[in-house]
Amino acid sequence: MIRVGIIGCGRISDLHAQAYLEHPEAVITAVCDPVAENRDTRGAAWGVAGQARHADYRDLLARDDVDMVEILVPHHLHAQVALDAMDAGKHVSLQKPMSTSLADADAMIARAAGRDVVFKVFENFVFYPPVQRAKELVEAGEIGEIRGIRLKSNPGWSPTAWEVPAAASAWRIDPEQCGGGPLVFDDGHHKFAIAWHFLGLADRVHAFIGTSYDGLIDAPSLVSWTHPDGAVGSLEVVHSPELKLDTVHYAQDDRVEITGTKGVIWVTRGHGRMLNVAPVVLHRDGVTTGYDDMPTGWETSFIRSGRHFVDALLNGTPPALTGEQGREVLAFALAAQESARTGRAATPVRAPAER
Ligand SMILES: NC(=O)c1ccc[n+]([C@@H]2O[C@H](COP(=O)([O-])OP(=O)(O)OC[C@H]3O[C@@H](n4cnc5c(N)ncnc54)[C@H](O)[C@@H]3O)[C@@H](O)[C@H]2O)c1
Repeated sequence: MIRVGIIGCGRISDLHAQAYLEHPEAVITAVCDPVAENRDTRGAAWGVAGQARHADYRDLLARDDVDMVEILVPHHLHAQVALDAMDAGKHVSLQKPMSTSLADADAMIARAAGRDVVFKVFENFVFYPPVQRAKELVEAGEIGEIRGIRLKSNPGWSPTAWEVPAAASAWRIDPEQCGGGPLVFDDGHHKFAIAWHFLGLADRVHAFIGTSYDGLIDAPSLVSWTHPDGAVGSLEVVHSPELKLDTVHYAQDDRVEITGTKGVIWVTRGHGRMLNVAPVVLHRDGVTTGYDDMPTGWETSFIRSGRHFVDALLNGTPPALTGEQGREVLAFALAAQESARTGRAATPVRAPAER
């Protein structure tokens, strides 16, 4: 049995908890949040006893009945909480981005190795069933060699979207706490992770990061990059305030197009769904095929990612993402920030051992 402590009981914790509540070999034994309502409401819903709901994460880390922690706090707190958890001998699942700086990322990777704990950076998009199916199709050679990947983030509005508390938006629009803007850095992590998942780390990144709503939103934006094998990628972020979307999570549509030497794959949804087509579409040999035999609820990506970590701990297999992999995605995202600042292409900074 893996005994889980959840640190940070905010918006996204509901989907993380689902993974552990559904896993026959996991149990949530403790929670922590300085906001009493968050830790009590969610702790009670997840079956956590009152005395195991803490305001200070160090009290949770001192517990003997916690094997691993799920860290779901604002980005500027990630590194310190993770380092303290590792020092307490806990395995760590840390939400993306692993930190706001590569120095912090390197410190966490080193600390996890030194303390002999397993360290996972939680990136759910690579566990989203349509993305997993696209990966299977690529690995089966259906589109030949990938030459380009195109990603689109398109936030709008939705009457069915879940409620995002003001507190969850407040730290995201402060670059000191978030590490960058809410769309290109925070949400962008998922898109850089998808590109990395299919093509590895980019070697040159160029970004135009726009602003709207008095600088609160980092869109419209365009990031483009190259990979060492010559493949190219791009991320376009456009905010459409009057675009009505179908979702029960964030009011945003995500789309991916992967072009190979002999075919093209589209992943047509993410948080939201806009196109009335199959979640994965393949075109090859002049034939277009839609694949709809998979779950498409966005929560599935969290359940699969959480389940994967419990299984990794039980079986002694590596988690996805490892700390080193999470660092690559962070370097990718930070290169976009640097390029937008300097107006020049930036090279993602590789780990010290790889330089
Ligand atoms: N994978 C995804 O798709 C996805 C989606 C949303 C959020 N996230 C990530 O999840 C994390 C949390 O995001 P959120 O949207 O739930 O934010 P949120 O603001 O709703 O929740 C953060 C929670 O952390 C608590 N907190 C603050 N300081 C703390 C501390 N010192 N100790 C313990 N708890 C503390 C806050 O009170 C709050 O309840 C971030 O890393 C974010 O990037 C990922």
